[in-house]
Amino acid sequence: MARFWNIFVIQEMRFLLIIFINLAQAALRQRDICNDQEINNECLVVCDGEFFECAKNCENSECSRKCFEELDVCENSCPCGADCPTGCVDCPEHPLCEDECEDAQLNNNDYKICLNEAIYELDFCLKICPPEIGCHNSCYENYTQMLFLCPCIEQERCFYSRHSEICRQKLFTKRRRIFANFSYYEHQKAETLSATGWTALPNHPKRISVHSLVGLENQSMLLIGGRDYGNGGADQSRIWQLKDENWSKIGELLQADFYGSAIYIDRSVYYFGYRSPYAIQRLDFNETEDLQNVARIGNQPGGFFLPVLFHTVSDYCI
Ligand SMILES: *[C@@H]1O[C@H](CO)[C@@H](O)[C@H](O)[C@H]1NC(C)=O
Ligand SMILES: *[C@@H]1O[C@H](CO)[C@@H](O)[C@H](O)[C@H]1NC(C)=O
Ligand SMILES: *[C@@H]1O[C@H](CO)[C@@H](O)[C@H](O)[C@H]1NC(C)=O
Ligand SMILES: *[C@@H]1O[C@H](CO)[C@@H](O)[C@H](O)[C@H]1NC(C)=O
Ligand SMILES: *[C@@H]1O[C@H](CO)[C@@H](O)[C@H](O)[C@H]1NC(C)=O
Repeated sequence: MARFWNIFVIQEMRFLLIIFINLAQAALRQRDICNDQEINNECLVVCDGEFFECAKNCENSECSRKCFEELDVCENSCPCGADCPTGCVDCPEHPLCEDECEDAQLNNNDYKICLNEAIYELDFCLKICPPEIGCHNSCYENYTQMLFLCPCIEQERCFYSRHSEICRQKLFTKRRRIFANFSYYEHQKAETLSATGWTALPNHPKRISVHSLVGLENQSMLLIGGRDYGNGGADQSRIWQLKDENWSKIGELLQADFYGSAIYIDRSVYYFGYRSPYAIQRLDFNETEDLQNVARIGNQPGGFFLPVLFHTVSDYCI
C-alpha cells in the first residue's frame, strides 16, 4: 500500500512539474515577440486534429495523459511555441516553415505561371525591338523586374532575412493555400434542425470548438467551455446562451475546460471537464432559467474524453 502511494505521489509530482513547466513556458511565450502568429494558429489547429485522433480512442486517463503530453510537444514545436519562440527563424525545419520554393521550377505552380508570363512578355518585347542593343537590354531589364514579382524569386533574400514583409507574405499566402483545407475548426456557424430541415442561426460571436452543448427546458441552449481559435486556441471558460436566436454570454466557469460533457438535471447543469484537474462544475438556474451560480463540486479521478452522462440514483452500478 505504502509503495502504491509512493508511486502515486511521484507520478502526481511529475505531473505537477509538467504543469509548472508548461506554465513557465506559457509565460515565456507571452513575453516573446513572434513574427509568425498566423502560422502558429494554423499549427495549433493541426496539433488539435492530431490530439483529437489520439484522444478519441482512449479508454483510461493514462492514455489521455499521453495524448495531452503529445499535444504539448506538438504545440511547443509550433512556430511561436516554447521551442520556437520567435517563429520560423528558430525552426526552419518545421513543416509549416518549410520552403515551398525548393525546386520551385518543378514543383511550384504559382512560380511556374509567373515565370511563363515573364518569358512571354520578354519574347514579345524582343521580337518587336528594332535591331538596337539598347532596346534588347531594356526588354531584359523589364523581364528581370517582372521576375522579381514572382513568388520564390526572392528566396535568397528571404533566406537571409526571413522577416522581410514581402517575403513573409509570399510564403504565407502559399502556406494558406496548402493548409486552407485543414482548417476544420475555422467557423462560427450554428444551425437548428426542425421538421423542414436545417436552418441557419446567427453566427456565434467567437470561433470556438470542442465545447459542450446542453439544452434547457425553455427553448434555450448553452455552449460551455471549448477552445477559442480566434484567440490562438486558448481554453475557454465562458458560458454562452442561445435564446430567441441570439447568442449571449451569461457567465463563466470557475475552471476553463474543453472536450467535456454537460447534463441538465433539476435546474442544474453538471459539467465534467477533460483537462487536468478534471473539475466537475455545477451551474444553477432559477425558475425562469436564468443562471444564478457556478460551483465547483469536485474533481474526477482522471480525464474522460467527451464522457457519456446519464441521470441515475446514488451508488448505482451498471
Ligand atoms: C519596359 O518597361 C517600361 C515601363 O513599363 C516601358 O516604358 C518600356 O517601354 C519597356 N521596354 C520595352 C523595350 O518594351
Ligand atoms: C479544398 O476543399 C475544397 C472543397 O472540398 C476543394 O474544392 C479544394 O480543391 C480543396 N483545396 C485544396 C488546396 O485541396
Ligand atoms: C437579439 O438581440 C438583439 C440585440 O441584442 C435584439 O435587437 C433582437 O431583437 C434580438 N432578437 C430576438 C429574436 O430576440
Ligand atoms: C418557460 O417559458 C414560459 C413562457 O415564457 C413560462 O411561462 C414558463 O414558466 C417557462 N418555464 C421555465 C422552466 O422557465
Ligand atoms: C431569476 O433570476 C433572474 C436574474 O438573476 C431574475 O431577474 C429573475 O427574477 C429570477 N426569477 C425568479 C422566478 O426568481
